[in-house]
Amino acid sequence: MCGIVGYIGKKNAVPLLIEGLKALEYRGYDSSGISVIDKKEIKTTKASGKIINLIDKLFKKPLSGNIGIGHTRWATHGEPNEINAHPQQSKEVTIVHNGIIENVEEIEIFLGEKEYERKSQTDSELIAHLIDYFYNGSLLNACLKAVHILNGSFAVGVICKQEKKLIGIKYKSPLVVGIGDGENFIASDVAPLLPYTNKFLFLDDGEVTEIDENNIKIYDFQGNKIKRSVSVVDWTREQAEKGGYKHFMLKEIAEEGDAARNTLLGRIDDNLALQEELKWNTNFMDSINRIVIAACGTSYYAALIGRYILQNIAKIPTTAEIASEFRYENALLDKNTLFIVISQSGETADTLESLSYAKSQGIPTLSIVNVQGSSIARMSDYVLYTHAGPEVSVASTKAFTSQLAILYLFTLFLSRTKKTLNNQQLKDYTKELLKIPDKINETFEINLQKMQSIAPHYSQFKNYLYLGRGILYPIALEGALKLKEISYIHAEGYAAGEMKHGPIALIDKVTPSVFLIPPSSLLLNKTLSNMKEVNSRKGEIIAVTTDKFEKIEDASLVLTTPSTDLIFSPFLYIVPLQLFAYSIASYLGYDVDHPRNLAKSVTVE
Ligand code: F6R
Repeated sequence: MCGIVGYIGKKNAVPLLIEGLKALEYRGYDSSGISVIDKKEIKTTKASGKIINLIDKLFKKPLSGNIGIGHTRWATHGEPNEINAHPQQSKEVTIVHNGIIENVEEIEIFLGEKEYERKSQTDSELIAHLIDYFYNGSLLNACLKAVHILNGSFAVGVICKQEKKLIGIKYKSPLVVGIGDGENFIASDVAPLLPYTNKFLFLDDGEVTEIDENNIKIYDFQGNKIKRSVSVVDWTREQAEKGGYKHFMLKEIAEEGDAARNTLLGRIDDNLALQEELKWNTNFMDSINRIVIAACGTSYYAALIGRYILQNIAKIPTTAEIASEFRYENALLDKNTLFIVISQSGETADTLESLSYAKSQGIPTLSIVNVQGSSIARMSDYVLYTHAGPEVSVASTKAFTSQLAILYLFTLFLSRTKKTLNNQQLKDYTKELLKIPDKINETFEINLQKMQSIAPHYSQFKNYLYLGRGILYPIALEGALKLKEISYIHAEGYAAGEMKHGPIALIDKVTPSVFLIPPSSLLLNKTLSNMKEVNSRKGEIIAVTTDKFEKIEDASLVLTTPSTDLIFSPFLYIVPLQLFAYSIASYLGYDVDHPRNLAKSVTVE
């Protein structure tokens, strides 16, 4: 969950490291620090709290050096103070670490006899001591020895004052190498390096890289040299910048229509596009008679929608599983099951472990991922990238919409090959899906205006219920998650039909309910009568709908979307809910892009 960046070249590393850390702040933001090699000395500055505190310190007491490492922390071991901040130092060696070391005691016993005094409460400090213990003139060799003693997950950046080298180590935590011209980089992901390069080497677990300004060598943990081809990433620097918006979250909500369009681009006009991308033959597709999707958080809610459409349209029995639970279930998966994981970051530890379990069962695996070259993308047999561009705000928005776009494309693709839709139906679905990006943009425009005026009233409540049925039930869950994670207001998403079985007891004047009113369908009247039940108990109502019905007059606030079929409604209904959460959090003055206690990539279990 922490962020790592490292530089070696001719420039002063400090501004590059700081810019890199700012771009990585979404991975953790309770403390930060940098170390540089300056005239054969390692100089370190650290600060607790946000990166701005580190910048303040560096302003007062500048550092410079051509080799450096930086870190932004999400605390696991030891409270978030300056001592526990990274880099962590030993006698000769300084490191930054992302991950968790699980055999702390064992390492302490091993090092105890060698008198390494502990300064911090972190597990990471032990990595520095361990490498230092093995250091005998070659930093690479010391790292190659230390990795065999470490258990857990670790992406590490290492420097030592005797060598003009930067070492990166990767094991179950992400680390990429950026290739520059007379300079090279390491980082937790590609985003902080986009201003300098779009050429990357993606490390696999169990690899160490030794880097100087002109050379990059990769070894496995046994010291064997590895060849890795260069990957070119198509994200741009501008995509990773705020572009005049107050927060990344608002920018990313505004980008949702275009993100969905990018996801569909080149894949929808021709029904065979996915087949070409996946290279699946007819026998393989015919053999799939069950789908299991695993994911966490927002991506799990996308999975719930995926389940709904795969069953209803492609007629394939599908389940959606919370990855952190699924991995412990010893689920029975047979060879006709397709296992799908969904992840924006491609690094979520629980999702990765679920994938690893499915692979151990020998079944085909497909990932739906946003970050190119990420661990999940590389581990799965097949990958469909969402192409949403970098998502910086911790709260996921455009990645969700793009995940939906892929799930719909994939469903239509399977429906075509499995012949669950005839040509006309396929055409109609495809036509509507193509209209979705514009309708998302329209939904954004319609609702954005309203938001400023409503935030003062709706930010006063302490509890909310979000209610939806059928395909809109996952949107109720996602809407509630958005509100709670960025505004710290308690919100629960419920299946509207479950209200009478408990939650209705919560309804009173100070617990508003957000109703997702489906477009005309069987579900409509049932949802409207649920709304009446709330209204007669004096509960305030916020309604999200495509149309205005008479009964919606019960609602104190009606948020609308352009008209669409029920099956496509999730794409549009989520937008006002994201804006609703955003405007409340922004009105309350919270740091919307960096909500407390959260990190964007949850790389620990
Ligand atoms: C919520 C949010 C999280 C992520 C979850 C999974 O806004 O962003 O719930 O959806 O941590 O992350 P990925 O999709 O990267 O696996």
